[in-house]
Amino acid sequence: MGQSPFLIIAIDGGAASGKSSSSRILADRFNLLHVDTGSFYRHITAELLRRGVLHTDLPALQHALGALRFSTRLEGRSARMLIDGQPAGDEIRGEHINAHVSHYAAIPEVRHALLGYQRGQVDVARAQGFRGLVMEGRDIGSVIFPDATLRFFLHADPAERAKRRAAEGRQDSIATRDQLDSSRKTAPLHCPPGAIDIDSTHLTLDQVVEKMSALIQGKLS
Ligand code: DC
Repeated sequence: MGQSPFLIIAIDGGAASGKSSSSRILADRFNLLHVDTGSFYRHITAELLRRGVLHTDLPALQHALGALRFSTRLEGRSARMLIDGQPAGDEIRGEHINAHVSHYAAIPEVRHALLGYQRGQVDVARAQGFRGLVMEGRDIGSVIFPDATLRFFLHADPAERAKRRAAEGRQDSIATRDQLDSSRKTAPLHCPPGAIDIDSTHLTLDQVVEKMSALIQGKLS
């Protein structure tokens, strides 16, 4: 009997496309570390704003990025990023960060600052005894792990996504963020060749997860 492979599951997609809900369920089902890279970009944005570093001021940005120290705290199955030992506050999910995060995420230096940290989550997952990791974001299957075991790309109609955010009681500039995230030069949001494209507009969360689970199971057997 061969050893079961270490799984790297990439899930990309636009805002409110169902990435977080599906990846959390998959993490539980397959004993994977759950890594929400959107929360990393949100945390770094909140930290830079707190320090008064504008996304338009490249020298200040480079200086600030060079001084940030990233580490990881495990919360259940989720990897929580700490910056200089501090976790992000709840405000990273609020309107203020929603309005700024795509501007910071478009800057190559910001993306570069997080690149090695994101790939390093494999070591965290191995060290903690997980069977693999499920990482969600915008460029996981295209840039971070182009050789992932499985790469999913989720999309859904904007009206359906707006409904999902409203049901969560959250305000989000979904269309504006998607436009900025898709049109940036570095690591834009797109379905990379070979990724499995799932349109979740008319699917329940369970149906999306079942589709993904069947493919993951196929990699294990
Ligand atoms: O997944 P989210 O909506 O919480 O992500 C917040 C923002 O972070 C999103 O608008 C774009 C950026 N992001 C990114 O550029 N690359 C990633 N891998 C994840 C998020």
